Amino acid sequence: MSECSGCASATPEGGCSSASGCDQPGDEKLQKTLGRIKHKIVVMSGKGGVGKSTVAANIAVALSLAGKKVGLLDVDVHGPSIPRLLSLKGQRPHMGDQTMEPVPWSKNLSVMSLGFLLEDDRQAVIWRGPVKVGLIKQFVEDVMWGDLDYLVVDCPPGTGDEPLSTLQTLGPTAMAVVVTTPQGVAIDDVRRSLSFVGQVGNRVFGLVENMSGFACPDCGKVHNIFNSGGGEDLAKEAGVRFLGKIPMDPAVAHSGDEGFPFMKVHRDTATGKAMNEIIAPMLDLPDPVVTA
Ligand SMILES: Nc1ncnc2c1ncn2[C@@H]1O[C@H](COP(=O)(O)OP(=O)(O)OP(=O)(O)O)[C@@H](O)[C@H]1O
Ligand SMILES: [Mg+2]
Ligand SMILES: [Zn+2]
Repeated sequence: MSECSGCASATPEGGCSSASGCDQPGDEKLQKTLGRIKHKIVVMSGKGGVGKSTVAANIAVALSLAGKKVGLLDVDVHGPSIPRLLSLKGQRPHMGDQTMEPVPWSKNLSVMSLGFLLEDDRQAVIWRGPVKVGLIKQFVEDVMWGDLDYLVVDCPPGTGDEPLSTLQTLGPTAMAVVVTTPQGVAIDDVRRSLSFVGQVGNRVFGLVENMSGFACPDCGKVHNIFNSGGGEDLAKEAGVRFLGKIPMDPAVAHSGDEGFPFMKVHRDTATGKAMNEIIAPMLDLPDPVVTA
């Protein structure tokens, strides 16, 4: 029996029962899906609560508002937060026989999250590593993403199963955007993320320093009340691109709670401009060379 990942005759054990031979042996289906996605950006951090989901959601929204076709995949299986950030809670993806349609946020942005498949979002999900790995692969290959300019992935904190299997599923062309806060303790965790990405065989696209300074609602300026710049120093030390600083901004937290992504409503503020600077080099990425 040949290896099979998803032809019509696939068996639950991963074999193929087709008498005429498997029509989609091995990872052909996955490769087909990946071949339709130009750029894969995986947002991660060694540290929890630094703003990965906020950054991932706003990158995806900003790219889509720039006219790009974007998919946003939430692989945080224990605490999916993308449905709330984009006001998509309670949505259900349309299910086909062997495929799922992502949930549309707009014409240009489609979203997939385990949060859409759970009956109750307070349900605790206890899954062992191999199940998570299988789920992430399915979220890439069984979701009808179609032709995408960007697939943005929001990872849970750390360097565990989810970021590992995300990078392995997406392959060596996927690039990591690592998020940190300016504080030293976060920086140490982030240093680990940077070396993790290299060990898996992927590239770091760049580092984002979030919650850096305070965007003052009174004067509209950014005040550096705490240390800022730790992320920039780390980027220099690690030899990765520094993408920019996003200030602590009450409007970011508020728009997340309300489910109106910041980049849709506050693009012209100091924080919006900072986010746009981070996204600019992503928009400048050249199209991948297609080999026949
Ligand atoms: N620049 C910012 N200014 C103000 N609040 C922010 C900013 N970035 C993130 N937050 C807030 O910080 C909290 C944590 O953000 P978020 O959920 O994006 O972090 P995370 O790194 O994805 O967390 P987790 O590790 O749990 O997945 C949220 O309440 C969010 O609104
Ligand atoms: Mg998160
Ligand atoms: Zn001020």
